[in-house]
Amino acid sequence: MAAIPTIVFGLVFQRNIMAGLIAGGSEADPRALDPIPAISRSPLRRDPSGCTRHTVGRALPDHDRKQVLVHDLESSRHSRPAAVGGAWWRSAAIYQLYVRSFADGNGDGIGDLAGVRARLGYLSALGIDAIWFNPWYPSPMSDAGYDISDYRGIDPVFGTLADADGLIAEAHAAGIRIIIDVVPNHGSDQHRWFQAALSAAPGSAERARFWFRPGRGPAGELPPNGWQSIFGGPAWTRITEPDGRPGEWYLHLFAPEQPDFNWANPDVRAEFEDVLRFWLGRGADGIRIDSAAHLTKDPSLPEVSSSALPGPDHPYADRDDVHEVYRHWRAVADEYPDRVLIGEIWLPDAARLARYVRPGELHTVFNFPYLSCPWDAAQLRDVIDNTLALNAPAGAPATWVLSNHDVDRVVSRLGRPDTSFSLQHRGYFHGLPVDLALGTRRARAAALLTLALPGSVYVYQGEELGLWEVQDIPFELRQDPIWRRSDGADPGRDGCRVPLPWAGDEPPFAFSPPGTAAPPWLPQPKEWRDLTVDAETGDAESVLELYRSALRIRHAEPVLGDGSMTWLDAADGVLAFDRGGIQCVVNLSPRPTPLPAHAELLLASWPLEDGLLPPDCAVWLRTS
Ligand code: NOJ
Ligand code: CA
Repeated sequence: MAAIPTIVFGLVFQRNIMAGLIAGGSEADPRALDPIPAISRSPLRRDPSGCTRHTVGRALPDHDRKQVLVHDLESSRHSRPAAVGGAWWRSAAIYQLYVRSFADGNGDGIGDLAGVRARLGYLSALGIDAIWFNPWYPSPMSDAGYDISDYRGIDPVFGTLADADGLIAEAHAAGIRIIIDVVPNHGSDQHRWFQAALSAAPGSAERARFWFRPGRGPAGELPPNGWQSIFGGPAWTRITEPDGRPGEWYLHLFAPEQPDFNWANPDVRAEFEDVLRFWLGRGADGIRIDSAAHLTKDPSLPEVSSSALPGPDHPYADRDDVHEVYRHWRAVADEYPDRVLIGEIWLPDAARLARYVRPGELHTVFNFPYLSCPWDAAQLRDVIDNTLALNAPAGAPATWVLSNHDVDRVVSRLGRPDTSFSLQHRGYFHGLPVDLALGTRRARAAALLTLALPGSVYVYQGEELGLWEVQDIPFELRQDPIWRRSDGADPGRDGCRVPLPWAGDEPPFAFSPPGTAAPPWLPQPKEWRDLTVDAETGDAESVLELYRSALRIRHAEPVLGDGSMTWLDAADGVLAFDRGGIQCVVNLSPRPTPLPAHAELLLASWPLEDGLLPPDCAVWLRTS
């Protein structure tokens, strides 16, 4: 496979290099919680036609059904406490909850906090330890909430601050931690500071909180430099001054509605430390830091080549002075017990990435090389080794991520002839054929691989249902600014953000309350009737029950989660490793492979065939 240049949120590197590196409140919602943790057992539903394009992963041969699933929970010999002291995040299974698409509580077709509160029982029964919420703040939603106009509130479409307080309390009562998303690189053009800056004069204190500069050219008609927005087009927009004349330009690394803050300005630093205390004081257990490597800029704003690598000489990516910000943030987080800072950082240089998890800085960073790695045993092993090597010197736990709200869903990715992914080649990937049956089979195996690796793990909502990327959303319904700003060249991220199917045979699949007239904010495929929570619950062949079993075992077995791993000898194309009495074997080769000697088959992603592990399948074994 040819190396594809990868630009991820502005940073350029080659995928083949990457693999070698690391790689105003109202009353709380009166809706009662689902009982916890009752997993309802709906009757097994099987498509009589067998394994069709849209029932993949659920129709298994009868003769081997007993071999799949099968962990006897009573046999779990040890139990990890629900919260492991101050280091809960080292082993946590973290559910990424995209509020807009999780569950609609009030019938406007948009997910909200009432919907989440009503479904907390589902998450508790799934067996996750924490929820990461994508931004829930007041926002004009120019970038789905990553354009924040008030960092201390909740957008009315999602609910109220009282709803968030109630949700945090209820989650904690259910043993679930809460991680919120903070976006420090940029705000919204509707943020009060930016509005004040627009009304103020050039050179004012109000403008100094952002990057305002005069334009070049005789009349200032050219942007201050040639920097390009990560979402496409120039990274500068010209304003109209209060007197009505064309005026200064401001910097936005993302959309024009997302002006970048100036992190050299003490107001900005103080404001965000206060925002952290606001949420940590309300009970947030962790902070996911958006675009964490971009905050500081070279004030001389030099030109930069599109192929420049991030690092100390780059004008806005991974500059050395950004670390001082996180040392301060760590001190703030340490004022509270057991809190975690998680960086969203895409970097090609493992040594540079490792600097963010040095003592006194962030606790963990997302593992994007793993997320982008093709379904290839050698490349996966490299990424895993490099991830562990990166984190080891700092004593930080690895994180493992198969998908999120910015990338194609894993079922579709693994069903394509090219199983890698890069953000700016989404158009290329969407042009490839997708074999959903193959993608689901591989995604099931990938889930067992991911959940067996040492460290913490993220599950993006819908991953546990085996949802696929919706690539045929009508153009006029697409919302992602990337779609618009690229004039359709990039299909955008809407396809992984389609509202979840909960129950029923047709859209909206109980995403909204019964009788809701408003359709879900993005259309759901009718084929998802086989992938609703209700349809999958109790179906031992479903992706959902596989995740439930795997998460239960992972939680019950102290050797899983944080710790060490040892690679085992295995045939070409097979990954096998030991976690201290539990082994994971993943067959990425085209041939069935024998299993190592074992005492008990804990879980299989697919039935064994004559005692052999078929291609694109994985098992967990107990060996002692
Ligand atoms: C990264 C977020 O994950 C993405 O959704 C967002 O568009 C950009 N940062 C800009 O905030
Ligand atoms: Ca709603």
